[in-house]
Amino acid sequence: MIHRFFSFMLPVLTVSFGLSSCSTQDSNKDKTEDAKLKESRRYDLSLRDRLEFFGKLPSVAESKENPITAEKVMLGYTLYYDNRLSANNTISCNSCHNLAKFGVDGLQFSPGDAGKLGGRNSPTVLNAAFHATQFWDGRAKDVEEQAGMPVLNSVEMAIPNEKFLIDRLSKIELYKMLFAEAFPGEPNPINYVNLRKAIAAFERQLISPSRLDKYLGGDSLALSVQEKKGMMSFALVGCTSCHNGALLGGNSFQKFGVYQNYWEETQSAKHDEGRFEHTHNEADKYFFKTPSLRNVAETAPYFHDGSVKDLTRAVEIMAKVQLKYTLNENEKANIVAFLKSLSGDIPENFKKSPVGL
Ligand code: HEC
Ligand code: HEC
Repeated sequence: MIHRFFSFMLPVLTVSFGLSSCSTQDSNKDKTEDAKLKESRRYDLSLRDRLEFFGKLPSVAESKENPITAEKVMLGYTLYYDNRLSANNTISCNSCHNLAKFGVDGLQFSPGDAGKLGGRNSPTVLNAAFHATQFWDGRAKDVEEQAGMPVLNSVEMAIPNEKFLIDRLSKIELYKMLFAEAFPGEPNPINYVNLRKAIAAFERQLISPSRLDKYLGGDSLALSVQEKKGMMSFALVGCTSCHNGALLGGNSFQKFGVYQNYWEETQSAKHDEGRFEHTHNEADKYFFKTPSLRNVAETAPYFHDGSVKDLTRAVEIMAKVQLKYTLNENEKANIVAFLKSLSGDIPENFKKSPVGL
């Protein structure tokens, strides 16, 4: 603990030393700067015992079974943006998980290939490769398994079967080339397993570090005092019992509605039973995967059914139904400020459709 404390404080000490050597004209400004730094450091001291709940976002999301190569990523990137992955050539993965909009479409429910709406809100694909399981109910184990599912889902991309899509892609020159490059030495590289692997390899690149990671890396000033206060409240009131680790979630299933039915607060029309609908195990009723809170300020509307538009309201509901706690106005504003510091970004080139598509 001592060791962590010192390595954590070091950048701050360096900065204040630099400031105190300025000329006298600047001394008033220096005083306010110094006071600000001191206040900022005070919060580091109180936060240091809570840092174990948080984690730095890793810079790579490797998979032993599906090693990332530049060729696979190129193929996956192309497939991700290609409308030909839907029955009537109308939508791609990017339609519902728009990479120029933090990996979401901003809608409560997303229209599929035939215009029909799904029953759950589209979560972001950013950092999804790090989730312990995929989907709100965890019915896919990783991004490799998940990537094949929306394509065949009748409400989403509505491709009738794997062979239909493989036949379609096999006629396209671009894919003959890209699959052969991504899976060298394979006699029939255009197949469904490889399609899933390539899309997943691309998703494994969608990692969005934010200011929180700079802070955890030792840059004390990467978070404002208000954000630090929010981080403190987030830990003190118990949000971290479910939203923890590098993703602030993504690693457990929890009941939505620990202290009262969630729909009393969200006004949800449908009472989605969550993981129960997948496992049919009574103990899983109303359990959902705790979502990651990375980029949460950019991914409204909230909850599995997109029933809540406003982040402050979502935070208030969480405190009430999960912790039986009423946040005061300050706590709410500070927690929301902290959540905003979790917005990161992905490489610019991925936000555009690939050349040649
Ligand atoms: C019509 C909209 C739509 C399309 C098209 C679509 N998705 Fe999704 N996606 C969703 C919805 C809705 C969910 C959540 C469903 C659930 O949890 O039951 C989801 C979930 C996911 C998840 C899980 C994320 C998490 O937090 O658990 C990933 C990853 C994902 N989609 C990737 C893809 C990829 C890759 C494609 C293209 C092959 C794709 N999606 C196509 C709507 C869509
Ligand atoms: C007992 C576990 C638990 C606790 C404690 C908890 N959450 Fe959650 N949180 C969840 C689950 C589960 C969901 C998903 C609910 C759903 O949509 O079905 C969620 C969803 C959210 C969402 C919406 C995310 C999105 O993408 O839609 C936000 C924001 C959030 N929580 C913030 C908080 C804050 C802030 C606190 C503390 C005041 C908190 N949570 C406490 C389990 C928890």
